[in-house]
Amino acid sequence: MELRFDGKVALITGGARGIGYAAATLLAEGGAKVALADVNGERAEDSARKLAQRSGMEVIGVRTDVSREEDVSAMAGEVVRKLGPVDIFVSSAAILDDKLFLESSLADWRRMIDICLYGPMLCMRALLPEMVSRKYGRIVCLASDSARLGQARLSYYAAAKAGVIALAKSVAQEVGKSGVTLNIVSPGATNTELRQERENLMRAEMGEEKYQRRMQSVLKVYPTGRLGEPAEVVSAIAYLASEQAGWITGQILSVNGGFAMP
Ligand SMILES: NC(=O)c1ccc[n+]([C@@H]2O[C@H](COP(=O)([O-])OP(=O)(O)OC[C@H]3O[C@@H](n4cnc5c(N)ncnc54)[C@H](O)[C@@H]3O)[C@@H](O)[C@H]2O)c1
Repeated sequence: MELRFDGKVALITGGARGIGYAAATLLAEGGAKVALADVNGERAEDSARKLAQRSGMEVIGVRTDVSREEDVSAMAGEVVRKLGPVDIFVSSAAILDDKLFLESSLADWRRMIDICLYGPMLCMRALLPEMVSRKYGRIVCLASDSARLGQARLSYYAAAKAGVIALAKSVAQEVGKSGVTLNIVSPGATNTELRQERENLMRAEMGEEKYQRRMQSVLKVYPTGRLGEPAEVVSAIAYLASEQAGWITGQILSVNGGFAMP
């Protein structure tokens, strides 16, 4: 089945790199006009130029901090003005923070919840009214299997992502009759810059030998014996963002090499 997005406008937060950029690539190559919204405005613009050249589609980069309501509403307004009303919203912007629960501060929790839970919520509030009135919309939120299983050292990230799952399912129930679907893609460890940054920190803390032992034990819990690649995660995103997925809503699709089978 070939997925096409001709005539559609897609907005991807966290689209400057990683899974967000890979998703944007699939959507643009499928014919969508694309906005890459990212807190790193320079990288968003560079990535937009690169993707426009590669896909031949209109692609814009917009600087926005998803945790700030005024940024989000300005960003949504700019995207609609430049590309038209948004049909597809992919929420990929996130941070990761690696700390034991008892070492975490209220400020750590607030920052995480602001970006990883309030971020998608603010974007949905900005985009949903138009989707509902146009009777079409596809929203795909990136979560994490840590939200479903819990994960040591990631308590506040996992809690924020669990909130995103509950948010998407609840809103899916409210807007189903308006032709708007909301679904969740829940990746396992995927080789992106985010993961690489976390690995580099661990490697520096543990030393090479201990780090390699740890990597071997991480890989053992993946029945597929390897970590994921962004391209493998984004084919799930593209399907849920397509017209063909109109009768799928409020669902979680884990793309995780079999790491968890909840
Ligand atoms: N890579 C993995 O192993 C993995 C595993 C599970 C879930 N995920 C989830 O997948 C999504 C994408 O992850 P990734 O690995 O591509 O990450 P990444 O760090 O490579 O990309 C995230 C992007 O979000 C942007 N961003 C961060 N804070 C922002 C803010 N306040 N406002 C706007 N943009 C902001 C960053 O600048 C970056 O470009 C995230 O939601 C992440 O939680 C990733």
